[in-house]
Amino acid sequence: TTQLILWAALGYLMGSIPFGMLIARIMGLGNLRQIGSGNIGATNVLRTGNKAAAALTLLFDAAKGAAAVLLARAFAGDDAAQIAALAAFLGHCFPVWLGFKGGKGVATFLGLWLALDWRVGIACCLTWLAAAAIWRISSVGALAAAALSTTWIVVLTDGSAFFLGIILTMLVYWRHNANVARIKAGTEPKIGKP
Ligand code: G3P
Repeated sequence: TTQLILWAALGYLMGSIPFGMLIARIMGLGNLRQIGSGNIGATNVLRTGNKAAAALTLLFDAAKGAAAVLLARAFAGDDAAQIAALAAFLGHCFPVWLGFKGGKGVATFLGLWLALDWRVGIACCLTWLAAAAIWRISSVGALAAAALSTTWIVVLTDGSAFFLGIILTMLVYWRHNANVARIKAGTEPKIGKP
């Protein structure tokens, strides 16, 4: 148990690094809180018009989720890997450094699944891409990927991460509350638009 708590703490710390905010600041793109949705993720970094910064944010936010999982698994096994995955996701959404007001966890979600089970990870990435290609809305891609993730877990794996999948899906939906309201109202911006 002590070991699991340790990996939860480490996962949280890794997840809590707000790469979007850091990259936007370093590249002189301004304060993400005052741009678009005010979110710290790649989608909102893209609203600054800087595609490279958005791509870097996506990459680093995904990599921190993947790294937390891979480290925990290497040192402490599969249970620790699942704990670290959830902790990294929560770290991104509720980072202590930003007064617990963080992001929506989508890039980290994709990264942690790629590391936890690459088949689920790839399936979730493809789901995001397909939905985003059809609707041109980032949050719709995220909601579709989260919704179908549990299906992919059942279809593609032994189901040992099913419970984690349910929790993460609920968390993604909860974090996208405002997006869901905008989607219903027809005011959710298309990808890359302010
Ligand atoms: O990854 C977050 C995305 O699903 C929505 O971001 O900035 O449009 O709220 P945003």
